[in-house]
Amino acid sequence: MAEKGDTSSNSQGVGQFLTNFVSEVVQSPVNVILVGVIAFLVYKIVKSKTKSEEPVPEIKELPKLRRDFTVQELKAYDGRGPDGRVLIAVNGSVYDVTKGSRFYGPGGPYAEFGGRDASRGLATFSVGPGKDEYDDLSDLNTTEMNSVKEWEEQFKEKYDYVGKLLKPGETPTSYSDEEDEGSQQETESKSKND
Ligand code: HEM
Ligand SMILES: *[C@@H]1O[C@H](CO)[C@@H](O)[C@H](O)[C@H]1NC(C)=O
Ligand SMILES: *[C@@H]1O[C@H](CO)[C@@H](O)[C@H](O)[C@H]1NC(C)=O
Repeated sequence: MAEKGDTSSNSQGVGQFLTNFVSEVVQSPVNVILVGVIAFLVYKIVKSKTKSEEPVPEIKELPKLRRDFTVQELKAYDGRGPDGRVLIAVNGSVYDVTKGSRFYGPGGPYAEFGGRDASRGLATFSVGPGKDEYDDLSDLNTTEMNSVKEWEEQFKEKYDYVGKLLKPGETPTSYSDEEDEGSQQETESKSKND
């Protein structure tokens, strides 16, 4: 009998304690803020824990490329290839912008530039699909051409130079003194097949 009474008063005590606790917390704005801060920190910890368990997509260091490209060849390097490499041509030079994949890779804000000659887009500040053929940029005025060159300076500083963008009929330079097997062989076998 006494046991029963004890348990009921005990559970009542717990309930009352909780009610008091909640009303104390809610009544004081300082406590409300503290609870908010704690909840936020707990959320952050939980979030960072779950995040670290996910496989972090790491950008692998790709071997350096050294070769020239036609407009058609460049298209393969829009970041959707197996190695995820992204190349961009500016002012007739090809740059490896793979480390800027978040800009130029699939889904990036400037994905239209990936695997293409971005000169015209950069000159006119429009991220649209460029020409499918070689673009000689001859209709750009001096202001626009200067803008292209300024952009190229930025690419030069940030990214690796790969080679030239070939005009139609222009033959690729053989960069044989720099042993870059993979890319070099690819160029050679391509030009043999053509
Ligand atoms: C509302 C319009 C735009 C906004 C808010 C914007 C914003 C930005 C920001 C914040 C960056 C720097 C990203 C970083 O370094 O972390 C950037 C870079 C860049 N933006 Fe834009 N942009 C806009 C329009 C354009 C347009 C129209 C073009 C096309 C010419 C363009 C081309 C670029 C390029 C090429 C980069 C350099 C990315 C790199 O470092 O490789 N942007 N933009
Ligand atoms: C060049 O063309 C742009 C339009 O793309 C125009 O706004 C600008 O005034 C032109 N500049 C010159 C020097 O003709
Ligand atoms: C752009 O290309 C022209 C001709 O190919 C070259 O003379 C010029 O130096 C290039 N601009 C930059 C910034 O490298």
